[in-house]
Amino acid sequence: MNIRLAKEHDLLAMQAANLQNLPENYSLRLWIYHIITWPQISFVAEDAKGRIVGYVLAKIADPNEDEGSSAPGDTRVHGHINSISVLRTYRRQGLAKKLMLLSQESMMAVYNASVVSLHVRRSNKAAIALYRDALGFAVHKVEVGYYADKEDALSMQLTLPNAR
Ligand code: ACO
Repeated sequence: MNIRLAKEHDLLAMQAANLQNLPENYSLRLWIYHIITWPQISFVAEDAKGRIVGYVLAKIADPNEDEGSSAPGDTRVHGHINSISVLRTYRRQGLAKKLMLLSQESMMAVYNASVVSLHVRRSNKAAIALYRDALGFAVHKVEVGYYADKEDALSMQLTLPNAR
């Protein structure tokens, strides 16, 4: 398995994996926007034949946007995980953890990010275990009815080790 930076030519396969794995889907324009704007923090996992089997799509949040800020006036640089998924047959092999760690490291190295945030469905036990148990995220707040079907989101955050 090879894990590398996501490139423009990966976007259709990343979007296909997203459609297969999650109800939260995005227009191709948003995928392109992320890769062009923050090219160093989104990664893919590919199998021996070069097929994309997992991805993490990330951005650097605007400090004025709520999703990246812990409190009004918080001007720390926030990385934000928009979406991560791994195809079913490749799960529990450590791919998501590796994708997350690479993205976090690049957020720190390239953007001097201090915090990384994300939203996850309250019912998504696998993802919550990944974030909390494997990576050390904590629940920052609960956003009631956040998703289109009104399920609550846990807004989770991790303070990055080189936070200044
Ligand atoms: N049950 C319990 N703990 C789990 C599970 C699970 N099903 N999956 C992962 N974990 C935890 C474990 O601590 C695991 O370590 P271990 O295997 O040594 O016990 C650790 O996370 C690392 O797991 P990985 O193997 O790296 O995770 P994986 O590659 O299987 O991917 C993911 C996890 C991304 C949640 C996968 O199940 C998936 O694609 N699910 C569907 C899509 C999804 O829910 N994405 C997240 C939505 S939220 C967002 O995108 C911001």
